[in-house]
Amino acid sequence: MSKNESIITALDVGTSKVTTLVASRNAAGRIQFIGKGVARNPDGMINGNVVNMEATTRAINESVTEADKICDVRIRSVLLGLSGEHINSMNSHGVFTVRGREVAQSDIDRVVEQSKNISLSGERRIVGTEMGEFVVDEQSGIKNPRGMAGRRLEVKTHVVTASVAMIQNLVRSVTDAGLQVDEIVVNGIASAESVLQEDEKQLGVALVDIGDGTADIVVYKQGALVYTAVVPMGGRYITRDISIALRMPPAEAERVKCRFGCAEPKSVSPDEEIEVSCIGDEEKKIIKAQFVAEVITPRVEEIMVNIRKKINEDIKDSFISSGIVLTGGTANLRYIKNIAEDVLGLPVRIGRPAISDDGMGFAELLRDPSFASAVGMAYYHGRRGGAKNGSSRGGVFGWLGRVMEKFFQ
Ligand SMILES: Nc1ncnc2c1ncn2[C@@H]1O[C@H](COP(=O)(O)OP(=O)(O)OP(=O)(O)O)[C@@H](O)[C@H]1O
Ligand SMILES: [Mg+2]
Repeated sequence: MSKNESIITALDVGTSKVTTLVASRNAAGRIQFIGKGVARNPDGMINGNVVNMEATTRAINESVTEADKICDVRIRSVLLGLSGEHINSMNSHGVFTVRGREVAQSDIDRVVEQSKNISLSGERRIVGTEMGEFVVDEQSGIKNPRGMAGRRLEVKTHVVTASVAMIQNLVRSVTDAGLQVDEIVVNGIASAESVLQEDEKQLGVALVDIGDGTADIVVYKQGALVYTAVVPMGGRYITRDISIALRMPPAEAERVKCRFGCAEPKSVSPDEEIEVSCIGDEEKKIIKAQFVAEVITPRVEEIMVNIRKKINEDIKDSFISSGIVLTGGTANLRYIKNIAEDVLGLPVRIGRPAISDDGMGFAELLRDPSFASAVGMAYYHGRRGGAKNGSSRGGVFGWLGRVMEKFFQ
C-alpha cells in the first residue's frame, strides 16, 4: 500500500451474516476492495438487533479474521452498519446569521450544528445528519453556499436517530471482538450509496434493503435524503413459512428458498419438480416447485404491504417518480420485482452495488444485492473525505465513546 492510500473497513452485522469488507482509498478518492470476510450469525441477531452478544462477537471475529488474512491488513477499527426498527428520522432545519459578507465554512458548520438541536429523550441519539439544500437570503436550492454573498443562511437537514441501548449492544459486541468503532452508518443510507444513481435521487426514489430480518427504507427527493425507517421483516420469515408448511428443517427450507424459490407461482412451470428432505421422512421427497412458490407469495406480499404502509404513513409517495430499488439478499428471490410492483404500484428494479472491475475477483462477488450496505459504507466514508480508518486511531464518534465509557465503568 502506498503512503497516499488509506484503509477503510466496513462491518455489516446483519441478522443472517456478518460481512467485513476492507477497501483501500487512494489520493484521488478511488475505492478498491482488497479483503472480504463473511461469517454466518444465525443466533446472534433478531430483526437487526443483537440478542446474543457472545454469538455475535464470535461471528464478528470470524468474519474479520477471514478478511484480515486475505488482504494482510491488521484490522483494528471499523465503520459499523446500524439497522433495527428503533431507527427513526425527521427533517429539520437551521438558520444562522452570516458574520462576514461571504458564507464561510464555519458558518456552514454552525448552521448544520444548529439543525441538530432537536429535543430527544435520554434513550435516543442522533446517528446521522444528511444535508439537503441551503437557502442564502431568498435564494433556495443551493448545494454549497461557501463563498456566496448573503446575511441569512438556512439549511434543510435530515436527522436520523436511534436507541442508545440498541447501539450499545451492537457496539459492545464489536469492542468485545477487540475492535474500535470509528463511525456508525445507517444501513439503508449505506445501501443507497452503492446502488442509487444521481438522476434517481433527483427524481425521487425509495431504496428498500430487504435482508434476513429487516427491511431498511430510505427515500430521496431532489437529490436529498428525506426519509429513513426500518420494517422488522425479511427473508427469515419466508424461510420459516416454507419450513412449517412443508415440514422441512430450517436449513433445508433455506436451501429450497434460495435455489428454487419464486415469488410468483404463475412464473414457475407446473411440471418443475424438486427433491427435498422433510422432517420425519427417511427418504427424500419430490414436490412441485410451484407449491413452494405458493407458500412464498403471501409472505412477500405481506412484507411489501408493510413497506407501503410505512412509507404512506409517514410521507406521501407521490414524488417517488423513479420508483423503488430493492437490495438485500431477499432481492435475489426470483420474480420479487413483479410482486413488489403489484403491491407498491411503482416501477421496481433490483439494485446491485456499482463496483468497477478490480482484477482481483472481488468486484464480481460484491455485485450482489446482499452486499449493498457493506459496499456502500466504504463509499459513504470515502465520499466524506475518507478519514483514516482501520488503524489504531481514536474513535471519531465522540458521544458514543462517552456513552460506552459510562456504560462499561
Ligand atoms: N436467491 C435467493 N432467494 C431468496 N432469498 C435469498 C436468496 N439469496 C439470499 N436470500 C435471503 O437473503 C437474506 C439475507 O440477506 P442479507 O445478507 O441482505 O441479510 P442480513 O444483512 O444478514 O440481514 P438484515 O439486513 O435483515 O439484518 C436471507 O434471508 C436469505 O435467505
Ligand atoms: Mg443487512
